[in-house]
Amino acid sequence: MVHNETNNGFKAPTTSSATSNNTFLDPKQATKHVKEYSSPDGLSADEIMDSRVNGGLTYNDFLILPGYIDFSASDVSLESRITRNIVLKTPFMSSPMDTVTETDMAINMALLGGVGVIHCNCSPEEQAEMVRKVKKFENGFITDPVCLTPNHTVADVHRIKAQFGYSGIPITGNGKLYSILLGMVTARDIQFHEDDTTLLKDVMTTDLVVAHEGVTLEEANQILRQSKRGKLPIINQRGELVALLARSDLLKNLNFPLASKSTHSKQLICAAAIGTKPDDKLRLKKLVDAGLDIVVLDSSQGNSSYQIEMIKYIKKTYGNSLDIIAGNVVTREQAAALIEVGADALRVGMGSGSICITQEIMAVGRPQGTAVYKVAQFANKFGIPVIADGGIQNVGHITKALALGASAVMMGSLLAGTTESPGEYFYHEGQRLKKYRGMGSLDAMERHCSPGTSVAPNNAAKRYFSERDAIKVAQGVAGAVIDKGSIRKFVPYLITGLQHGLQDIGAKSLCKLGEDVRNGKVRFELRTAAAQIEGGVHGLYSYEKRLFS
Ligand code: IMP
Repeated sequence: MVHNETNNGFKAPTTSSATSNNTFLDPKQATKHVKEYSSPDGLSADEIMDSRVNGGLTYNDFLILPGYIDFSASDVSLESRITRNIVLKTPFMSSPMDTVTETDMAINMALLGGVGVIHCNCSPEEQAEMVRKVKKFENGFITDPVCLTPNHTVADVHRIKAQFGYSGIPITGNGKLYSILLGMVTARDIQFHEDDTTLLKDVMTTDLVVAHEGVTLEEANQILRQSKRGKLPIINQRGELVALLARSDLLKNLNFPLASKSTHSKQLICAAAIGTKPDDKLRLKKLVDAGLDIVVLDSSQGNSSYQIEMIKYIKKTYGNSLDIIAGNVVTREQAAALIEVGADALRVGMGSGSICITQEIMAVGRPQGTAVYKVAQFANKFGIPVIADGGIQNVGHITKALALGASAVMMGSLLAGTTESPGEYFYHEGQRLKKYRGMGSLDAMERHCSPGTSVAPNNAAKRYFSERDAIKVAQGVAGAVIDKGSIRKFVPYLITGLQHGLQDIGAKSLCKLGEDVRNGKVRFELRTAAAQIEGGVHGLYSYEKRLFS
């Protein structure tokens, strides 16, 4: 047997007789012979991420080689520790950006097993109110039902039915929530009613079945089932409407087996971002009073005296009741400084975001694959999880980020444009779009708070240390993304896609993936530019890229 030198210096054995005499090795011994190679096919994570040899890499620069499958994709566990004290069922986080995460996104991300980080480009009161709504959310209760007054007409009910599809409408004194409940108008009440101008007080049902504030979802569902009504209004002691429960939601909403909930309160887990300036301490107090679980220190360059002081302050003030995600960092040295003062997780990424121009303007940053690997490799030694933030364009990137040592991915553009992201849809050249902008875009840095709330208009600017600059230098752009529908469908697609990725690699859980990457069992391969073209759809005259159904 002789050995061939390969490009990477590995010794690959060949059997001279196999080539010269046309006699072949016994196929039944193939597994035994593959072990004769001095190292497995491909490269270990350490080898591929050696930046002195390969430079800085990002997700598209490499692939993971397939392993051995002896389990089904649906059995793959995606449970992951995203901070020192918090474990989620899915490793997904939504970015603290004002076109990505407000109440609706945070609630739905948590229901689907991830967590949303509420942005801070608003007043402390507005942000605290969003946190409060997430913590108060009880799956199934509609807390903002459309109501009408007794003096509205049948035509108004038809209009609401056409616009929103609702047919059971509560009638309250002033047509709003927290006003005395007077009746309900259901589809049956107006089914054969021909005069659209009839007032609702003449058709509404006043013989109501109600439940009282404080009722649990389970109890309310039981009352709803027994009542045989379509809707169950929930009222407070004064008889005011505080919520509504719908029979149609009963089945579809009941089960979110992956939901991220605090162990003690059973409420949804909520994260929110703050800056690192003195007034952010007051903001944090309001967020903590509203029930915050995780605080994200939102800075484009986290290795600063401001952030270090803020971490020390938070740990001293709130102890271990509040986990801190510090960052952003891309090097071991930055990571070390934040770990040392008490960071419970690190957010990794500088310049990799889809809306980001930091690398172009500031000349600093790091290719995201290398950044995630180098920081995770270091931070994981201290039990500090790493969150790969920015640059995630598809499910494959998620699998790669996690294989490189991240415990979770943070997504902006992938979740922007969904029903749950803030903002209205608009049409442009036939496409249904939503706005998506970088928090370092001039657009975001110039945003002002709602009237009547306390001042903090420049929070986006603070992320980039430019709130005092006479000239604002943008580090992001403002644009639009295509409508992606609801994350109730999109996140399950990400979950299933990721499970299939892990199945191909041969890892039955994220924990096993990490272990097998560390021990060199999971192998990687660099992709040339031609290989990247080959790996995409090519050679077709036209095609439609539908991702899930
Ligand atoms: P995406 O998922 O690739 O769209 O990246 C989202 C991430 O980009 C966020 O989580 C932030 O870390 C980062 N980011 C947000 N706004 C800006 C910006 O204006 N400039 C640079 N990075 C940004």
